[in-house]
Amino acid sequence: MATINDNYLKLKAGYLFPEIARRVKAFTEANPEGAARLIRCGIGDVTEPLPEACRKAMHDAVDELGDSSTFRGYGPEQGYDFLRDAIVENQYGGLGISADEVFVSDGSKCDTGNILDIFGKGNKIAITDPVYPVYVDTNVMVGNTGEADESGAYEGLVYLPCTAENNFVPTIPAEDVDLVYLCYPNNPTGATATREQLKEWVAYAKERNAIILYDAAYEAFVQDDSVPKSIYEIEGAKDCAIEFRSFSKNGGFTGVRCAYTVVPKTIMGTDAKGDSHPLHPLWSRRHSTKFNGASYPVQRGAAAVFSPEGKAQVSALIKGYMENAALLRETCEKLGLPVYGGENAPYVWVGCPEGIDSWGMFDQMLEKANVVITPGSGFGAAGEGYFRISAFNSRDNVEEVCRRITENLG
Ligand code: MLT
Repeated sequence: MATINDNYLKLKAGYLFPEIARRVKAFTEANPEGAARLIRCGIGDVTEPLPEACRKAMHDAVDELGDSSTFRGYGPEQGYDFLRDAIVENQYGGLGISADEVFVSDGSKCDTGNILDIFGKGNKIAITDPVYPVYVDTNVMVGNTGEADESGAYEGLVYLPCTAENNFVPTIPAEDVDLVYLCYPNNPTGATATREQLKEWVAYAKERNAIILYDAAYEAFVQDDSVPKSIYEIEGAKDCAIEFRSFSKNGGFTGVRCAYTVVPKTIMGTDAKGDSHPLHPLWSRRHSTKFNGASYPVQRGAAAVFSPEGKAQVSALIKGYMENAALLRETCEKLGLPVYGGENAPYVWVGCPEGIDSWGMFDQMLEKANVVITPGSGFGAAGEGYFRISAFNSRDNVEEVCRRITENLG
């Protein structure tokens, strides 16, 4: 009989968002009226149509594939040059990143999980708490943790609490860690890290030979010019940081799927004998072996994000979502709730009213307001007492959500 990967048995319940979907399904099946009124502000999934420039580029690419003179089969696993070049030119200008350090993929969720393929066993992993659950679960899956305790914390992981007191940016740990996941603008808290804070993290990583896995999936939502959008804006980061970025939230590609990971050639890891190796060829090898590249029409659509029309259309989308975030913030503030995020990120992180916990808040919002939010505790023990509202929605829906929040919590 085939054995299984026992690490999967350590995973807690379902992955957060399927678990929310399960609860919402149970509610809507039992309450057809509530189901008809339901507004989803849980998972950070975009709602507005794809930018026209992207759609046009994808249509044209499909037409190319329909003509034998322009047909293409397998593409380069690491991504077409036209997209890798456009990414460097538009996202990393002046930061010293070259196009062959950019690996195009079908999603940052996949990349932040798959990156563990190139790291060895026994690394000490640090994650923030609260955290995007993928970082934790993928470490559990590959055996980098022990069992979870009652609070859901896994033995062997170093948890870095992110609280209102530290503005949701973790304090540098006193101990050595090998890999540390940072995500700014942050999911779920919507917080940003300052240049000074990132400098401290880069200095820590360089001094302790740690690697920062920097998830910048929400960089396009940064409104404040002083907030770094890339870890590579910090000197030295090319020696110690891998950055993940996505077209999901800026171009609205959550269903289309396209992202990229930057692995600088200067970043090194150590083998079992203690010899140093660059990570770039390892990730390239992994990518070529396990991935056949994002589809050609999708990469053309992604490149169109950087066209003049694409830039204007994406910035209109972001503006709309950020205006939603401002409305949600204002509504919760008026109710006297502690409100964070939503100024440089599409997530608003709200303290629960007195006497109700995160899942209690989830249930109340679902049952009474027919609004789906995300319970803070689903992101880790330090998320208890908070809930997250996603600003990805139509303006009409957000205005209705604001009315219902006021009605139910006011
Ligand atoms: C979220 O809601 O946290 C995100 O949509 C999850 C994701 O991007 O995978």
